[in-house]
Amino acid sequence: MKGLILSGGKGTRLYPLTYTRAKQLIPVANKPVLVRVIEAIRQAGVREVGIVVGHTAPEIAEALGDGSQWDVKLSYIPQHSPDGLAHAVKISRDFLGDSPFVMFLGDNVIEGGISSLIRDFADNSWNSQIVLKEVENPSAYGVAKMRTDGSIEELIEKPKSPPSNLALVGIYMFDQHIFEAVDAIAPSARGEYEITDAIQWLIDKGYTVFPHVHDGWWIDTGKPTDMLDANSHVLEELTPRVDETALIDEHSSVDSRVTLQAGARISNSIIRGPTIIGKDTLIENSYVGPFTSIYHGCKVRNCEIERSIILENSRVMDIDRTLRDSLIGRNATVKRSSGRPQGLKMNLGDYGTLWV
Ligand code: G1P
Repeated sequence: MKGLILSGGKGTRLYPLTYTRAKQLIPVANKPVLVRVIEAIRQAGVREVGIVVGHTAPEIAEALGDGSQWDVKLSYIPQHSPDGLAHAVKISRDFLGDSPFVMFLGDNVIEGGISSLIRDFADNSWNSQIVLKEVENPSAYGVAKMRTDGSIEELIEKPKSPPSNLALVGIYMFDQHIFEAVDAIAPSARGEYEITDAIQWLIDKGYTVFPHVHDGWWIDTGKPTDMLDANSHVLEELTPRVDETALIDEHSSVDSRVTLQAGARISNSIIRGPTIIGKDTLIENSYVGPFTSIYHGCKVRNCEIERSIILENSRVMDIDRTLRDSLIGRNATVKRSSGRPQGLKMNLGDYGTLWV
């Protein structure tokens, strides 16, 4: 069994953060989503992993290297234009050979990992296994229409009138027959070779595609609200740990669901979990509430923060209202201005949003 991670795409729905960074490298609970994907694949016993990369290839290669840090052997497969998920399979043929493989979209986060899925696929003679999840907005995904016997009748990519609320999760298992399918299909209305259409081709040709309905949470981290949701879920699952080099002064209170990474310092502050505070981050005279991830090298002073993600080396200082449901990028500053005239003053990146 091999692994194939797709990590191309522009991530436009996460602008401005994804102007300067691959969306798959944005951390959830202080660990990039892409690293979570690699760990899930490795945990399922798969060591040979290909990663399809687009224009953010150098940044991804710098973050992941040869994969040895996670005990996997990573091969990079360049995709020169974003022509769709089925196209990504097509260009990965040399890497995959005739081996069965699991394809995992690099921006998907799923509860409980994929070990049991991989086991089920290995124990049966299915040609493909897909994962379905009930969602509230099926039109945003590939959607499955089921027969009463539980088999798949049809798969439709982003239908305007969805035939069910069962969305296709970005985790798929295939044998070598998928190569016939990706060669046979035509581009969709959005100009992409859709994996949904390739799986439909397998079904039409009589190959076995087993639908596994997932009952835990699943998030495709396409939008800022999805990142915050994924962050909350992952923080809840995290086993809290206070690094021995973290410092908490006697005027602070840090509850048992808080993780403090190396060199984090908490001074005269209240930290409520589940929350994670990154390496060498300083929290001073502040309240950091549940479901918050503050990454490495940040400084938070005289403020209250809840259910937010703050990326590395940012500063949040002297804010007199609670900052909540916020996603703040790297090296950003959020600060109260002291001089007159008062009023809002901002230096906001392209496509950024500020709610006041
Ligand atoms: C892709 C697939 C879609 C699937 C989704 C899951 O959509 O085309 O069928 O439901 O991933 O994350 P995209 O993220 O490319 O819009």
